[in-house]
Amino acid sequence: MTDICRPLLRWAGSKRRLLPVLRASAPKEFERYIEPFCGSICLFVDLKPKKAVLSDNNPELIHFYRTLRHRPAHIGKLAAAMPLTESFYYELRALNPVTLSSNDRAARFLYLNRFCFNGVYRTNKQGQFNVPRGKHMGALPSVEEITNFGRFIRSAEFHAADFEELLDIATTGDFVYLDPPYAGASRDRGEYGINAFKEIDIVRLTDACNRASKRGAKVLLSYADLPIMRELLPNWGVRELDVLRSVSGFSRGRGMVQEILISNFN
Ligand SMILES: C[S@@+](CC[C@H](N)C(=O)[O-])C[C@H]1O[C@@H](n2cnc3c(N)ncnc32)[C@H](O)[C@@H]1O
Repeated sequence: MTDICRPLLRWAGSKRRLLPVLRASAPKEFERYIEPFCGSICLFVDLKPKKAVLSDNNPELIHFYRTLRHRPAHIGKLAAAMPLTESFYYELRALNPVTLSSNDRAARFLYLNRFCFNGVYRTNKQGQFNVPRGKHMGALPSVEEITNFGRFIRSAEFHAADFEELLDIATTGDFVYLDPPYAGASRDRGEYGINAFKEIDIVRLTDACNRASKRGAKVLLSYADLPIMRELLPNWGVRELDVLRSVSGFSRGRGMVQEILISNFN
């Protein structure tokens, strides 16, 4: 059987390399896993919780996961039948996804994600995906791998929502993992879409974290090591990480920031 522990999507800002640290930082026991900035869902895939609510404010990403739960083999075959040419990439990119059938829309997302530059999701001001085709992206996952992944995520709930909506449902028994985009200048260039998390959202995020904490949820937050995070989450445990993260998928090597993990539990 194909390894189902591999996230299917390439995703700029993915926490794949930090998984050993995140796994060790997760609570030993919890009833429900909640991830409000879910992206490539790599921690969910790693922890394999029985009950999970996953969300992201990227409607194409969430549509992809929701559709994949029902017809993964069909979507895999649709994507596999698409030509691997530069001209086809740009033709597919130019289509308005909401005018497509649900399965075609999901296959389009999978194909563009695999062959775009660095797994970046960026849109123009009209919300249209505008990432150029990349180089050396490898092949699409096999139909078998896509099918297994679709089965694996079948019992998870997916929502296209702003992070605050999800944080506000978190309560005793829940483990919430938060991985917001680093609110740097790249966000204003449309990375993660037009409504992506910005500096102005930091207070809204930490307020919602404090409310969830008071209701009894266990909360773990990854972010850049900014003094404001420690000020707004006083008495939370802080772990500095020896990893540097790029501010933007388009600017590897520039604007690197030190990361921290902040949590309200041991
Ligand atoms: C750093 S990525 C998360 C990566 C994920 N942890 C992984 O390992 O793949 C941040 C995610 O937050 C989402 N996002 C940005 N602003 C958001 C918001 N206001 N509410 C919910 N999700 C948001 C983006 O679409 C993106 O998928």
